[in-house]
Amino acid sequence: MNANQKRRTAVLISGRGSNLQALVHASLHPDYPAAIALVASNRKDAAGLAFARDNSIAATTICAADHDNDPEQFDNALNQLLTEHDIELVCLAGFMRILGPTMVSRWPGRMLNIHPSLLPAYPGLNTHARVLADGATVTGCTVHFVTAELDAGPPIMQSVVSTGGVPSAGELADRVLEQEHRIYPRALAAVAAGHAVMRDGRTEWRANASRLSPAG
Ligand code: GRF
Repeated sequence: MNANQKRRTAVLISGRGSNLQALVHASLHPDYPAAIALVASNRKDAAGLAFARDNSIAATTICAADHDNDPEQFDNALNQLLTEHDIELVCLAGFMRILGPTMVSRWPGRMLNIHPSLLPAYPGLNTHARVLADGATVTGCTVHFVTAELDAGPPIMQSVVSTGGVPSAGELADRVLEQEHRIYPRALAAVAAGHAVMRDGRTEWRANASRLSPAG
């Protein structure tokens, strides 16, 4: 695939960036339909920023404090940044900030998130501890389109993980993370190629749809 045909994708992070790394590694394959063109973090010390720079990817910090801690100003600045870099798709990957409904509505079917549970079960934070406290036998992870309601957009891909023999939330997190790294690149590829589109609040799958826009 010609580099110009790959969809320019931004990854938004707040920390470690292991999902970012999985996306970057996948994107280096010549046939992968997306290129990671920008990494933005809302925390200056995010380890993922260094990884991006080491891999010659534009990397920048966008902090709420630089925008009067005003959510609307922050969202506008972020949107401007994405526009300046000609971004077509946005992947939230451990981005610990909730974007406002106006911002989300600017990216319909073009913004993805990964969440470490089998949504709609366990939206929000501390998923693994809650899963274990409930004695659930399975959990997993979900890549979904982002909509205005937190962790509630239509799922694109999920992977199930057994909680069997797992003594701590940390170990469960590691087990789930392995699956996150597996499905996020696949889900982004499906959206970038136009196979998975968000339509009427659901994910619609289309065969041979590489020429369709991800927004459908
Ligand atoms: C992942 O578990 C992701 O599901 C959640 O935040 C974590 C980010 O990890 N949203 P990393 O920064 O990608 O390593």
